[in-house]
Amino acid sequence: MVAGVGIDIIKIEKMKQAIDKWGDSFLDRVFNPEEIENIYKGKMYYQRLAARFAAKEAVIKALSKEYPLALKDIIILNKPNGAPYCKFKKDIGDEIFLSITHVEDYAVASAVAQKT
Ligand SMILES: CC(C)(COP(=O)(O)OP(=O)(O)OC[C@H]1O[C@@H](n2cnc3c(N)ncnc32)[C@H](O)[C@@H]1OP(=O)(O)O)[C@@H](O)C(=O)NCCC(=O)NCCS
Repeated sequence: MVAGVGIDIIKIEKMKQAIDKWGDSFLDRVFNPEEIENIYKGKMYYQRLAARFAAKEAVIKALSKEYPLALKDIIILNKPNGAPYCKFKKDIGDEIFLSITHVEDYAVASAVAQKT
């Protein structure tokens, strides 16, 4: 059964500004090391960071208030075929299905939560 959906959009420039201003302390507040390693200095670095930020927000929306989560409780990674998925630091009863897209200026993510 679908328990909730969430969507979020991020302007890439906002992500760049936050990193320029706060640097590693911003990255450390939002992302886990394995998320950074997954995309580190690859192509479209800022777009991919922004997409992961949007994905975390989308997951929080999809789960509503059922599971209070911090951004770093959510870990966004890619399967070998490139498809995004998320795992959690806390025990979450729901399964999450994720989709991500990005262009030069914006990143968008959507999430569907399914009761397991
Ligand atoms: C996977 C695919 C849909 C990605 O679309 P895109 O327009 O290139 O890129 P987008 O910015 O919209 O999406 C990128 C995101 O798609 C996600 N993605 C990648 N592979 C995926 C897959 N197999 N399944 C689901 N999502 C996938 C990733 O999250 C990626 O972002 P990330 O690398 O930051 O994690 C595309 O590469 C593809 O395979 N299309 C099939 C049709 C085709 O081959 N078209 C080309 C000829 S016209």
